[in-house]
Amino acid sequence: MELLGIDTGGSSLKAASVDVTTGVLTSSVLSFPTPAPATPAAIGGVVRQIVQAFPALGGPVGFAFPTVVSGGVARTAANVDRSWVGTDGVRLVREATGRPAAFLNDADAAGLAEIRVGAGRRHAGTVVMLTFGTGIGSAVFHDGHLLPNTEFGHMEIRGMEAEHRASGRVRTVEGLSWPEWCERVSEVLHRFHQLLWPDLFILGGGVVENWASFGPLLDSPTPVVPAELGNTAGIVGAALAAAEL
Ligand code: BGC
Repeated sequence: MELLGIDTGGSSLKAASVDVTTGVLTSSVLSFPTPAPATPAAIGGVVRQIVQAFPALGGPVGFAFPTVVSGGVARTAANVDRSWVGTDGVRLVREATGRPAAFLNDADAAGLAEIRVGAGRRHAGTVVMLTFGTGIGSAVFHDGHLLPNTEFGHMEIRGMEAEHRASGRVRTVEGLSWPEWCERVSEVLHRFHQLLWPDLFILGGGVVENWASFGPLLDSPTPVVPAELGNTAGIVGAALAAAEL
């Protein structure tokens, strides 16, 4: 079965068709600019365009979004328009497209994909997926089971939220070199280690395409691997979540 997965980022919404048995993309990734302001109505309009761009794909839609999601409702808005708080994302997609939807946190979606079909498959124990993009997203798994909506990107380090020191965006905005950025990321990994004692870290987000430049510079007490699905993990995980509806 093939389903549509949509992943919402600060600069674009990315979407593709996914074979939900294998987790393999069955189309190229289409990218739609994130509207500004990214209100629920504006994003709903983009989701409608995305669904129309995949006319052959029926069934439920997987929609990953950078907020805490409980009961299908967005509860936070760290890096998105404030008007998202309290928005029913499932209803938004249904009203925009007529389709049922799985609405979930973006890092949880990416982690789900990696644990099922990526770098975390066959890994028992505690696996922590961290995504480095506009913010820092976290997804925590134990023996393949997700603890949803962890928000460890907001953990305080040196008096600042971790994502304000070490996200992918901060690296670009502050013009940090790889060693400078890796020092900050390593500090995040050490803090996780102290608090959760994971068996494996999986690092995701757009920055992972530069793994060869920065991976070897990371200092972590726990093994760290790059997301195997790279920046498409969120799309794949969204589609996998839709398949479970
Ligand atoms: C949000 C998370 C999200 C992460 C990555 C954080 O600012 O609070 O919900 O997963 O950014 O996008």
